Amino acid sequence: MNVLSLFNGCGMLRPALDKANIKVDNYYSSEVDKFANQIANKNYPDTQQLGDINDWQQWQLPQIDLLTAGFPCQDLSIAGYRKGLDGERSSLLFQALAIRDKLKPKYFLFENVASMKQQHKEQISELIGIEPIRLNSKYFGVQNRDRLFWTNIPNAQVVQDNQISNDPQKKFSEILLDGVTDREKAKCLLASYCSVATTPNQLKRYLDGKMGQIIFTNISQLELDQLFAEYGKKWSDDLLNNTTIRKLYPVECERLMNLPDNYTEGVSKTQRYKMLGNGWDVDVVVEILSNIIT
Ligand SMILES: C[S@@+](CC[C@H](N)C(=O)[O-])C[C@H]1O[C@@H](n2cnc3c(N)ncnc32)[C@H](O)[C@@H]1O
Repeated sequence: MNVLSLFNGCGMLRPALDKANIKVDNYYSSEVDKFANQIANKNYPDTQQLGDINDWQQWQLPQIDLLTAGFPCQDLSIAGYRKGLDGERSSLLFQALAIRDKLKPKYFLFENVASMKQQHKEQISELIGIEPIRLNSKYFGVQNRDRLFWTNIPNAQVVQDNQISNDPQKKFSEILLDGVTDREKAKCLLASYCSVATTPNQLKRYLDGKMGQIIFTNISQLELDQLFAEYGKKWSDDLLNNTTIRKLYPVECERLMNLPDNYTEGVSKTQRYKMLGNGWDVDVVVEILSNIIT
């Protein structure tokens, strides 16, 4: 099939198509981040880059079978400013809708964060013309990643959260290269993860639930479990100063997204964290795509 991936990022849709056994004839990507494009083409050299979505009227494309759009969330998410679709970045949804209406693909799949305001969710659903399904990655892997998907893929509804009964056994601790964790499922990986520091003050913020995922390095799992049982979140300054922590390695972030190890290797760590935090959980998308009959 011919695929048009708008806001392609580093192309996490592509391994999902592979895993769902969907044969790709042509894969077109619209993405402005040169590092993300570099990684997409490293893994899939046949990716045809179209550049900025604002230039779409100049694109020459064949009939498109699947159009996808994980449109920018900065103006919609809790972490952002919540300007909604008036925001410069999230308003790019209007371009994606214009492209869908012009190309009339057989299938479409739009995606964004589940934490958006109800009013934005309703507005987007009305514009796309379909209600979203809600899927959290924790049902498919080891990360808490709550997302909305608007799609016309038949039967995709059967995979939504409230229909999933089997919480997978796989635990976050199983994907770590070293160190231990207090959580069964990792916190959601964000594009800003590169800026996380590993000072005692940051550990305190983590305990207060205000910071992304960290890993404990100078302690055994048993000791960590005992500390949490004994002190909960109220660790003394002494304990904070004597506990060492680290960030997730990029490879661990790839595992959170159900990508092959080293998928994003080849650019700086900062760029790897950014594109991984922006991306789609591969196995969640596989669940949806597997309803496509080719
Ligand atoms: C939420 S991310 C989507 C990532 C993608 N779904 C993935 O799995 O990796 C949004 C992407 O939109 C891209 N973007 C922002 N402005 C754009 C534009 N004008 N044209 C094309 N892509 C743009 C960003 O660089 C970012 O990679």
